Amino acid sequence: MNIDILLGLQWGDEGKGKIVDVLSPVYDVVARFQGGPNAGHSLEFNNVKHVLHLIPSGIFHPEKLNIIGNGVVIDPAVFKKEIEGLGPSVDELIKRLVISTRANLILPSHRMLDAAYEAHKGNSKIGSTLKGIGPAYTDKVSRNGLRIGDIMRNNFRELYADHLNTHLAILRNYDFKFDLEEYEKGWFEGIEMLKKFRMVNTEYLVNELAGKGKRILAEGAQGTMLDVDFGSYPFVTSSNTISAGACTGLGISPKLTGEIFGIFKAYCTRVGSGPFPTELNDETGTLLRNIGREFGSTTGRPRRCGWIDLPALKYSIMINGVTKLFMTKADVMSGFKTVRLCTSYKTEGIECLEIPFSNDTPIEPVYTDMPGWDDDISGIRDFNKLPQALKNYIEFIEQQTKVPITLVSVGPDRNETIFRK
Ligand code: GDP
Ligand code: IMO
Ligand code: MG
Repeated sequence: MNIDILLGLQWGDEGKGKIVDVLSPVYDVVARFQGGPNAGHSLEFNNVKHVLHLIPSGIFHPEKLNIIGNGVVIDPAVFKKEIEGLGPSVDELIKRLVISTRANLILPSHRMLDAAYEAHKGNSKIGSTLKGIGPAYTDKVSRNGLRIGDIMRNNFRELYADHLNTHLAILRNYDFKFDLEEYEKGWFEGIEMLKKFRMVNTEYLVNELAGKGKRILAEGAQGTMLDVDFGSYPFVTSSNTISAGACTGLGISPKLTGEIFGIFKAYCTRVGSGPFPTELNDETGTLLRNIGREFGSTTGRPRRCGWIDLPALKYSIMINGVTKLFMTKADVMSGFKTVRLCTSYKTEGIECLEIPFSNDTPIEPVYTDMPGWDDDISGIRDFNKLPQALKNYIEFIEQQTKVPITLVSVGPDRNETIFRK
């Protein structure tokens, strides 16, 4: 069981990129299994911050292999830009990165469709990142997609034109602006960039490496509460962000999976629309946003902030089968006199522990209050040296979730990480 999975338990942006980078030294392979350029995974070392969208977060470790799995949707224009901005040369990156032939392509017209659909949603906008994710996955599932392997076909340009014409016929019904020619130029340059990389049936590669005893870390994007089946539909993304998604997104059997690392913030954030029971539309919410620098890594939008939501966290742990919890950003809450944890919900006065089916069900969070912690904890590397109030907070979450918190992140840098012994 050499394949561990790391995924987000909330609404994304839990700090997956940072922690995958931190854990990479103990793995041979890092593999992304779903999502696409809607993701923004940040990691920091040597005082430089990097934000990755399509490329797995193990890429800065020269000796590690990174795989973009079949479950990912790839926009070649974003891919090229990302490769060119990483730092290491293209020749070097070619050695470190392999791409699945089966990963579906995001076409420029998928972005147009995303923009058109959102523009016409009126008050019920999803708050999509507008990267073409929904339309690309729609075409995949309706068997109309183009895949990475198709770019090697002699008639790729014709195939592309057919898809574009189908999309343009739909788009005639919508009124919105998009510079198709300009985007297409960068997109086709991206296709040429992709051709320099190894494109293989990565399901064979992953299984072969696992069979040889190589250690693989599957990296999720988004978060469980944005899962297309289990999130607050329709305010979700279009893929399965949960542990099961690692199996379909890489072509591996559940029998091969080992640890399931669930990562969460010490509080909650959400970008885009949809229910957020513990949201703070007050000074405390603004403080969390400003201290935690809670602005989207992909779109720059301000993230909605709120207290930790334990019913939602327990739900995510259940759906994913989480074996170990990693907590990030407790440093952001330093200085709060009291911290609050939502332990259950009330709907119309009745206590309820389940996430309701309907987004219209009125939910009132029930809170437990605990004393906060004051100290700057970003320099601490020994769990025992954390302030007692924070240790109590951690212990309370462990009691509630019945899963150990084995890693605590106290800052964005690689080094600002505490492994619990
Ligand atoms: P991801 O999408 O899950 O990879 O998370 P993002 O990169 O979108 O958002 C997490 C943000 O918090 C990034 O700006 C990280 O640099 C930062 N971050 C990660 N862990 C910590 C932490 O423990 N403390 C603080 N203060 N920032 C963190
Ligand atoms: P990472 O991997 C936070 C949100 C969007 C929107 C909804 C649908 O960085 O955690 P989409 O573009 O997928 O159609 O948007 O999902 N969303 C994210 N929120 N982190 C992400 O990724 C996200 N990817 C999508 O804001 O509400
Ligand atoms: Mg992010």
